[in-house]
Amino acid sequence: MPSKPDIHDLFEKVARRYDLINDLQSLGLHRRWKQRVVEKLAFPAGGRILDLACGSGDLALQIQRRDPQTAVFGGDLSRTMLRIAARRQAADSIRWLNLDALRLPFRDQTFHAVTIGYGLRNFPDRPAALDEIRRILKPGGRLVILEFAHPPSRPMRILYSIFLRTFPPLFGWLLLGDRAAYDYILESLARYPTPIEISRLLEAHGFSEAVCDPLMGGAMTIHSAAVKA
Ligand SMILES: C[S@@+](CC[C@H](N)C(=O)[O-])C[C@H]1O[C@@H](n2cnc3c(N)ncnc32)[C@H](O)[C@@H]1O
Repeated sequence: MPSKPDIHDLFEKVARRYDLINDLQSLGLHRRWKQRVVEKLAFPAGGRILDLACGSGDLALQIQRRDPQTAVFGGDLSRTMLRIAARRQAADSIRWLNLDALRLPFRDQTFHAVTIGYGLRNFPDRPAALDEIRRILKPGGRLVILEFAHPPSRPMRILYSIFLRTFPPLFGWLLLGDRAAYDYILESLARYPTPIEISRLLEAHGFSEAVCDPLMGGAMTIHSAAVKA
């Protein structure tokens, strides 16, 4: 797994083209998958939600739009990503914070829910991050994670691997002059646990009701779990 400075440098480098490359490589579908994450959140009116590893802020903004009374926080390791997030429309009602998922600057039981879009795979110590998230969630609070996954069917896995080997690096090369930055998706996915292993990890770190919904034939998953009340 790359060390934290590598991950930090990687996202600082890709930040300026991150949204465009996301749109191109998913044909805009990532917005729909993020909407599914928001639909899985259950929180009281006026609740407090953290979008962790928020990047350029898609999820935080979608949550804010769904319920303008919600106190939404977006937290990320990359200051450049946060600057881009803060420039977006309606972003001024969200609190953008530079933070590390492994040491969250919040008191115990602060949030009703935490979301993570394509972030868990990048954390250098996933168990430590899950312990931190459980600590800052209220009892019964929900964690919803959107992440790449390993499709269960072999033909689909082969096709997906060809896709990830070709398109993200191509866009990285065309738009950033750096194909290696986007080789990282495939490398990190190869080391990333299967959805069943992620569900077990969640349960081992104080979460219950772990549910995993495959998207696109298992190429992506949405995990949802609640802190044991
Ligand atoms: C692939 S981007 C996802 C951005 C956004 N959530 C989305 O779905 O489009 C991953 C983000 O995780 C952030 N990240 C990586 N490691 C982190 C850490 N230890 N703590 C906080 N953020 C981290 C990166 O800076 C980057 O913005």
